[in-house]
Amino acid sequence: MPPFDLVIRGARIATASDLVTADLAIRGETIAAIGRALPSGRREIEASGYIVTPGGVDAHCHIEQLAATGLRNADSFESATRAAAHGGTTTVIPFAAQHRGMSLEKVVSEYHEAAERGAIVDYAFHVIVTDPRPQILEQELPPLVRAGHSSLKLFMTYDRLRVEDDRLLDVMWAARRHGCMVCMHAENHGMIAWTSRRLLERGYTAPRYHAVSHPRYGEAEAVNRAIAFSAFLDQPIMLFHLSTREAVEIVHRARGAGHKIFAETCTQYLLLGAADLDRPGIEGAMWMCSPPLREPGDREALWQGLENGTLQLVSSDHAPYRMDETGKLAKGPNPSFKEIANGLPGIELRLPLLFDAMVSSGRMDLCRFVELTAAAPARIYNLHPKKGTVAVGADADLVLWDPALEVTIEQGLRYDNAGYTPYAGRKVRGWPVMVLRRGEVIVEKGELRARPGSGRFLPRTGGEAAKPTGRLAPELDPSRNFGAVLLD
Ligand code: URP
Ligand code: ZN
Ligand code: ZN
Repeated sequence: MPPFDLVIRGARIATASDLVTADLAIRGETIAAIGRALPSGRREIEASGYIVTPGGVDAHCHIEQLAATGLRNADSFESATRAAAHGGTTTVIPFAAQHRGMSLEKVVSEYHEAAERGAIVDYAFHVIVTDPRPQILEQELPPLVRAGHSSLKLFMTYDRLRVEDDRLLDVMWAARRHGCMVCMHAENHGMIAWTSRRLLERGYTAPRYHAVSHPRYGEAEAVNRAIAFSAFLDQPIMLFHLSTREAVEIVHRARGAGHKIFAETCTQYLLLGAADLDRPGIEGAMWMCSPPLREPGDREALWQGLENGTLQLVSSDHAPYRMDETGKLAKGPNPSFKEIANGLPGIELRLPLLFDAMVSSGRMDLCRFVELTAAAPARIYNLHPKKGTVAVGADADLVLWDPALEVTIEQGLRYDNAGYTPYAGRKVRGWPVMVLRRGEVIVEKGELRARPGSGRFLPRTGGEAAKPTGRLAPELDPSRNFGAVLLD
């Protein structure tokens, strides 16, 4: 009987810190050995010339999510995670989204049911809090955290999702008590509302005005405010989907000053731009997301932010809506930009696009690619080292890349349910040719081998990233006047 279930021979194996050419052996669900001339496995894969990376960790994606408008996005857990698997992503962190008046506990249990039915890759949840009543924060949140939900998302904009400043502080304070990471959608609501109203009043309704209606200063203002709240309460935050040069500069300064701030950008902010929205008729709706796509200078600043560590990870913010009455055109065939659902599909192509733009282009090395797409999200959300690395004892979540394979992305070849990709026509070099999840080959030769529901929930605590620094603002310092009162 061979000692291993599977041995991958002679690939270049990349982690966030090392690149070695070796054999890799799997027993059961985990990596059992990495070395030269390993003993045989029940299955052997000759992989010289190929690259092995950890399976991708997509820490921001919307799956089977109900929007506040009543629209559900186009993907079920089955279709979204099928697409994720094809693209080499083996762990996802979608959302359990509360809307006002809803019980958090009920919301989380419904998303669990949907994921248990459909998920093909492993998953955790961020819990979106839109209604932070005392009952929610005091009664419902603590057992959810104990059950392994240790990150929350808060919105500073959107009419039906946003949380007022004092309530944001309530949630952050509760997060601090329970050891959760707080993820923020940071855009200034008033600036978006004011600009949108003036555009619409003057008849500027086309998708291209969506980009104008979310002013860059609005992102900068909200990012600054979120950082101030984080510093005030000593509660670490993750700034989601940064899109502008200004935001990158603010985060750079805050991190330099020692604040525990993490920041994400997404594939689309690195590769697409506001010009993509400027198409005839309603077509630009396919490129509408929030924050909106920006300018070349922003893309360069985001790339530099990834290079110098200001930004720690790249997610997809997969938020798929079809170009029909179930999605982007739910308000009719010719909606104003304000009536079009925000979001782009991207869960499948995140890794192939970034492999091309980072590694094949020569802009970054393989280790940095792994860090930004797998290791950092796994660490920050406390899934490391089970996920996000290639190491003995880690889950055998692996992607086998053919670095020379060139693929032109076609409109018709996707596995999600969005019905389009904003990246059609783009050529990439480097493609995931085999994907393993916990030792099982789940994608081979373009075929999916895993059944819906075989993905597993990953309960987690907040871990290191979510821990306060111990530096409270002077007003909250118990050794000074009233501090103890405020802390009660
Ligand atoms: O446009 C986007 N990104 N829609 C999804 C919701 C969000 O804010 O992440
Ligand atoms: Zn958001
Ligand atoms: Zn999102």
